[in-house]
Amino acid sequence: MPVKHPAPGDLEPIERASRDELEALQLARLRWSLQHAYDNVAHYRSKFDAAGVRPEDLVTLADLAKFPFTTKSDLRDNYPFGMFAVPRDRVVRVHASSGTTGKPTVVGYTRNDVDMWASVMARSIRAAGGRAGDRVHVAYGYGLFTGGLGAHYGAERLGCTVIPMSGGMTERQVQLIYDFEPEIIMVTPSYMLAIAEEIERQGRDPRTCPLQVGIFGAEPWTPAMREAIESKCGMDAIDIYGLSEVIGPGVGQECIETKDGLTIWEDHFYPEVIDPASGAVLPPGEKGELVFTSLTKEALPIVRYRTRDLTRLLPPTARSMRRIEKITGRSDDMLIIRGVNVFPTQIEELIVKERVLAPHYQIEVSRPKHLDEVAVLVERTPQSGFAEGDEAGRRLEHLIKSMIGISAEVRVAAPGSIERSIGKAKRVVDRRPK
Ligand code: DLL
Repeated sequence: MPVKHPAPGDLEPIERASRDELEALQLARLRWSLQHAYDNVAHYRSKFDAAGVRPEDLVTLADLAKFPFTTKSDLRDNYPFGMFAVPRDRVVRVHASSGTTGKPTVVGYTRNDVDMWASVMARSIRAAGGRAGDRVHVAYGYGLFTGGLGAHYGAERLGCTVIPMSGGMTERQVQLIYDFEPEIIMVTPSYMLAIAEEIERQGRDPRTCPLQVGIFGAEPWTPAMREAIESKCGMDAIDIYGLSEVIGPGVGQECIETKDGLTIWEDHFYPEVIDPASGAVLPPGEKGELVFTSLTKEALPIVRYRTRDLTRLLPPTARSMRRIEKITGRSDDMLIIRGVNVFPTQIEELIVKERVLAPHYQIEVSRPKHLDEVAVLVERTPQSGFAEGDEAGRRLEHLIKSMIGISAEVRVAAPGSIERSIGKAKRVVDRRPK
């Protein structure tokens, strides 16, 4: 695959700093952040008090483990603005993530927060190979979702020309990609596949489209999916990570020159990985739940936020900052099928390897009697016939049994029959009685 910019470009000094320098900065910022949360958010004050810790108890970075966690339900319980640490008139923006049930999670930004976000997003786009002057097609949704505006401000900050498409109107997305010739697209990987499919429907080969780099995130996607997108579209597919509660996109970014997991922008977001059951901090390299503490955020300081994303912390490579392994699942997405833990991405990996099957899929879980049953809905490619598709389906059933250890019924449908996402794909349809 062509690498657009193998050289990292002009790094900020902190991206090259020594670990000592970085940790000294983190410690000073962490002290400020804990004090800011304690002084200005009643919820943090009462939680710290109940746990018997004060911001001044943080003497080393490891002392962070003494502080209580924050969860999504803390934000929900303080809906909408109860976790904000600044007077309302200093909040220049809010975003919200809908979640599956109930109230949305509301997050707020001061002018400085928006500025910091733009700078980490600009850093992310540069790490993915983007440079000033590049045209950036933003197909993440604009609005309450952080994807569109987060990408937009970052690309502008880097000096790019932004094409603020948002999601949807796929035919028009394709027209403008060919007319405006953007080098970079920022979009969920699942919607990228829908765009590629539309390019083909218009009789063109996606490999000839102007796009050279895709900055893909907001949902789990596998290394196998990366290979599939890169070879189908002739572009570098780079991973971007983030979540609303921590800032939005731009918490971590894969570097194009290494493609070896996501560098966490540790000068603003302090990562820990914990055992999800006991809450204990795990040693580097062990897999668990990712937890973040914001170091500089004003409107919504976040202390030890449990992301539910499962990954491990890895040593720095392309930058001075630590990395996380590509996230292929969150604890919420884990299905327990007759005692076997299954992540949708494990099934994705097997589907993507089947040439006859298209990488669009949905997993249906039901409980017709007493036991859970799984059906995998997948499509054959437009080039393949019914019988070929059927054969591939049987092979996939066999692979799921032998590689994952569950029995699943694979239903191979005609091309186009699975609903396409225009943002985050819905991979699991749970039909089990509540
Ligand atoms: O999805 C922010 C974002 C926008 C990230 C655009 C990247 C690109 P939320 O809607 O709050 O924010 O959802 C956050 O999405 O906890 C992960 O479970 C998942 N997620 C985000 N990026 C990745 C990724 C945005 N690269 C939740 N790989 C997170 C896997 C991801 N999962």
